[in-house]
Amino acid sequence: MSLPLPTRAELDRLPRKLLNRGGSRNPDVYCIEISGTQLVVKDFAPRGALVRRTIGRWVTAREARAWQLLDGQPSVPAFRGRIDALAFAVEYRPGRRMGRKLRGEVPPDFSDRLDRALSAMHARGVVHLDLRHRSNVLLGEGGDPILIDFGSALWLRPGSLMARLFLPLFASFDLRAARKWRRKLAPPDQDEGSSGSGRGASRPT
Ligand SMILES: Nc1ncnc2c1ncn2[C@@H]1O[C@H](COP(=O)(O)OP(=O)(O)OP(=O)(O)O)[C@@H](O)[C@H]1O
Ligand SMILES: [Mg+2]
Repeated sequence: MSLPLPTRAELDRLPRKLLNRGGSRNPDVYCIEISGTQLVVKDFAPRGALVRRTIGRWVTAREARAWQLLDGQPSVPAFRGRIDALAFAVEYRPGRRMGRKLRGEVPPDFSDRLDRALSAMHARGVVHLDLRHRSNVLLGEGGDPILIDFGSALWLRPGSLMARLFLPLFASFDLRAARKWRRKLAPPDQDEGSSGSGRGASRPT
């Protein structure tokens, strides 16, 4: 389904709800509504001229490419397209950030679903590499995991020599992050991390 994307001039006139204000070298992330549909825009345009002319373009192009490679994967919001060299848009998918406080609220097979989502992503040759960050894995409304923020992602052509050599290594970082979330979401009696008197046993994330 192709949805009309606003031009930059239209975008600048639309009301926006800020989701995350970027620092001096990061994009702003905000929500807009267009034809009754909510979209998330990741946008380097508010940054300074040097960032806009250099890493802003490069990071936007790279991240947009990763989203494109994953388009159609159920655990990844749909890619909606580039607005210009500094911004792209994806489907808005409501969800809650990962963390220990979701324990008891996630479906019992949530971690298995997350593992399957990662397998599907890796099958396309994409590794996320920043899944330990609680803001990058969401609990979706139907209890499914949602993967967002492909700013650190890498990809290799599935089946290529490079992929056969390096994908398992890179994928192991994602799998390690998934094991972290599995531990944090496990019922207390199964959570080795909080069973003893170890530091941080009652940390909420
Ligand atoms: N497709 C989406 N659907 C719903 N919310 C989203 C979506 N994309 C991003 N968000 C929200 O916006 C926040 C920031 O997005 P993202 O992680 O891509 O940006 P970021 O610049 O990497 O920010 P951070 O440094 O916090 O990770 C997310 O943590 C999430 O709350
Ligand atoms: Mg993020």
